Amino acid sequence: MGTLKGRDVLSLADLSSAEIQQVLDWAIAMKKGELNPRFTDRIPTLGLLFYKASTRTRVSFSTAMFQLGGQVMDLNINVTQIGRGEPIEDTARVLDRYLDALAIRTFAQADIETFAQYCKMPIVNALTDLEHPCQVLADLQTVQENFGKCEGLTFTYVGDGNNMAHSILLGCAAVGMNVRIAAPNGYECSPDVVAQAKAIAGDRSQVITTTDVWAAVEGANVVYTDVWASMGQEAESDDRIPVFMPYQVNAELMKNADNDAIVLHCLPAHRGEEITHEVMEGKRSRIWDQAENRMHAQKALLAALFGLVQ
Ligand code: CP
Ligand code: NVA
Repeated sequence: MGTLKGRDVLSLADLSSAEIQQVLDWAIAMKKGELNPRFTDRIPTLGLLFYKASTRTRVSFSTAMFQLGGQVMDLNINVTQIGRGEPIEDTARVLDRYLDALAIRTFAQADIETFAQYCKMPIVNALTDLEHPCQVLADLQTVQENFGKCEGLTFTYVGDGNNMAHSILLGCAAVGMNVRIAAPNGYECSPDVVAQAKAIAGDRSQVITTTDVWAAVEGANVVYTDVWASMGQEAESDDRIPVFMPYQVNAELMKNADNDAIVLHCLPAHRGEEITHEVMEGKRSRIWDQAENRMHAQKALLAALFGLVQ
């Protein structure tokens, strides 16, 4: 395993299987209070540069950084010159002189790649249209806490083949989980990401994509869903409802999963669309633990990127 100190995390595939597993183990130890890394010689600053709304990612990154003894600068684009058209290449080089790490939430993956190209400090993907790697670290932590392991389990994602589905493909493959994606025609995952996940999984686990939601959920240990229209796709919301309604995670669908299956959702959720109120609040739901784990998983990741743990 290479050191994570100073690295960029633009995709979950930027971390090896061993590195992901190590971050999960650190996150679990930090949550239990068994590992308490702190900055000692100086107080570094994490910037949060967000082009889209956020509750969990913004607050969990901030709290994680405060708990490590660092500080945070919230850089919503509307309060920066980026919102008035300053090029990323210029903004990136300037922010690199002030900050110690930058978490970015934006639309195009290419934009965070440009930031990474022009910054020496670590750049972390806090959600793009392509991926949401930090969310999946928390998701895998939740699976590991619940089942004591990830390897060998089956993780089914139901819904839009979006940023969440992509990071789930890469993350599950990396930890040896079978991953099944059930998405309607026309809303499939990127074939490139599916191929990447299959290459990571190798002979260790299966990667399956299908339109058959019932087959995908059959015997699954984890059932996961996300909104049918992501940020930036709001205009398509109404048209998507009839297409996605057969993919709703409800009590009937959950009967097909393993008896001990858990339900996860990255949030925010639209009750009555991708998931019913009954399932969200039901005994299989681990959604609130999952949301809490954003803080622990990102704290572990930040501690590693700053070289506090290795
Ligand atoms: N799950 C997630 O990323 O939530 P926020 O959009 O509130 O950050
Ligand atoms: N797919 C959703 C995830 C939100 C955390 C979106 O991009 O809006």
